[in-house]
Formats: sequence, structure tokens, C-alpha cells
Amino acid sequence: NWTPNSFIDTTIADLKEKLGDDKVVLGLSGGVDSTVAAVLLHKAIGKNLYCIFVDNGLLRKDEFENVLKQYEGMGLNVKGVNSKQRFYDALAGLKEPEAKRKAIGRVFIEVFDDEAHQIENVKWLGQGTIYPDVIESVSVKGPSATIKSHHNVGGLPDFMKLKVVEPLRSLFKDEVRRVGKTLGIADELLGRHPFPGPGLAIRILGDVTPEKVHILQQADAIYIENLRSSGWYDKVWQAGSIFLPVQSVGVMGDERTYENVIALRAVESVDGMTADWCHLPYELLAKISNEIINNVKGINRVVYDISSKPPATIEWE
Ligand code: XMP
Repeated sequence: NWTPNSFIDTTIADLKEKLGDDKVVLGLSGGVDSTVAAVLLHKAIGKNLYCIFVDNGLLRKDEFENVLKQYEGMGLNVKGVNSKQRFYDALAGLKEPEAKRKAIGRVFIEVFDDEAHQIENVKWLGQGTIYPDVIESVSVKGPSATIKSHHNVGGLPDFMKLKVVEPLRSLFKDEVRRVGKTLGIADELLGRHPFPGPGLAIRILGDVTPEKVHILQQADAIYIENLRSSGWYDKVWQAGSIFLPVQSVGVMGDERTYENVIALRAVESVDGMTADWCHLPYELLAKISNEIINNVKGINRVVYDISSKPPATIEWE
């Protein structure tokens, strides 16, 4: 019968045997799956695991720095790569959600390939693939889809020619969390809400600019901090803020303002395939709205999304 401890022991033994003295490169995303996969591989092969964590400039406020520190604290051999500008350049002027996803996928592959080339004689690509990814019921829009669409465009980047090692291939999400907990990974990391690969780019409707990212990051940080301090964060399956490229009139003191709108989204779900909007308390919504409008320059209106999936989706793009 399956227990996290037995899974960990047999997996580490298998990885040791399979990998020997080979080097493995793995992309960390800040999410649960890639983190647990990395810790297992690290336990098996130590410094021969080379982790790469890319800052695409589309993460939550301070997320890159905080998560990188956590990874280092866990003893992982991790390189943080600041590629913000490459992503912003590729996104400039793109308005269509799928065009934005493609550009982000393409740049990620380029950055990752550059980094993988710097690791001499690397033999394997480590991935945090879990069972639902294998049967492809959940992550239709995930990284594997990006990689597939890339296949059709041109030749494979070199890192995709590496042999693949996926220690979590047989696990469901809750099992990955239990393994992670047994491995000593912090609850804060394991309990994270899902966050889409294209990040804030698909939470800024229309074209993405560094200024819009900055505004959205500040509003989103206020939202998430309030969910945490009120105890709602762990009751919500996924939450996030959306930047609407719509201006509306407001008043600040004696001044008339004409600024953008932030939409707040919080949903309950099991697997993201269907979702209900969360009935957050009015008092909490009022506090968040006041804090955002009073502190985030460029926002004068906050709305709450009361749509369920279907027919709406969780993300707005
Ligand atoms: P939707 O908006 O389709 O989202 O209801 C369902 C779940 O999928 C996530 N999502 C993505 N994840 N790349 C990802 O890695 C994407 O392009 C993407 N689009 C949506 C979304 O955050 C939610 O958890």
C-alpha cells in the first residue's frame, strides 16, 4: 500500500540507479510539482541536479526573489535567470491571448535552451509531470501544449532532445502534496494556489506593458495579503486580480480621476475544470477595495467577478 515514505524511498533508489553520475537540468516554476520533483532528484543525485528558475517578469510581486531564496534554503543547486526584458519585448503590442501565450512559450524555450547549453555534458531533462498531465485531462493549456505547438514550427531545441526523467508521473496532486510535506517542504509552498504559466500576462487584458504589470502586482499583493490575514487563502482554490484596460471616472479629493479598473477573482474548485465563485465576506471585499484604491496609483475602481465556470472560465483570457 502506498505511503509517502515508501514512495520516497523507492523513487530515490530508482533515480540513483537510473541516473548514476549523470547531470540533470530541471526548470523550477515556483509551483508544487516542479518543487517536489526537484527535491526528490536532489536527494538522489545532489549537485548533479541543475535547477533553473526563470524570472519572466510576469510573476506576482516579489515572488521571484522570495521563491528563489526558499529554493536556496532547501539546498537546491538553483540558478535564477532574470529574463524580464526578453519577455516584455516579445509581448510588446500583442493583444490576443493565444498570441501572448505563444510568445511567452517561445521565449521560455529560448531562455531555457540557452541555460541548458551552459551545463556541460547534461544528459537528462527533469520534469514535474504528474499523472493528470500524462492523461492530459487537466493541463490542456499548460507547458506541454506550448511545447507541442513549438514542435510543429521548427526543429526541436536541444534540451528537448535530452532523455526525460519524471519522478511524479504516477501521482495525483494530493499525493504530490503529501510527498512534499513528508520531504519537509514548507506548507506555504505546498499550499500555493495554482498560477498559470503565462502568469500576469493573461491577467492583463490586451497588450502587456511593464507599467501595467507593476500596477497589477501591487493590487494583487494587497488582495492576496488580505486573503491570508483573514484566513480565506486556504479556503479558496485559486485567487487573482485582473487588470482591465478600461478607464472610468472617479473622484479623489476635489479632483476628477479617469483611471483603470481591477477585477478580483476567487474560485472554489476541485480540478479547475469547473469552478464556483467564492462568497467572500462583504467586509473583506470592502477592505481590499479601499486599500487598493487608496494605495495603487492608476486604479480608481475595483469590481468582484461573480461568474462561475462554465460558462465563464477562471482566467479572463
Ligand atoms: P481556465 O481559465 O481555463 O483555467 O478556466 C483553468 C486553470 O488553468 C489555468 N490556466 C493555465 N495554466 N497555462 C497554464 O499553465 C495557461 O496558459 C493557462 N491558462 C489557464 C488557470 O489558472 C486555472 O487554474
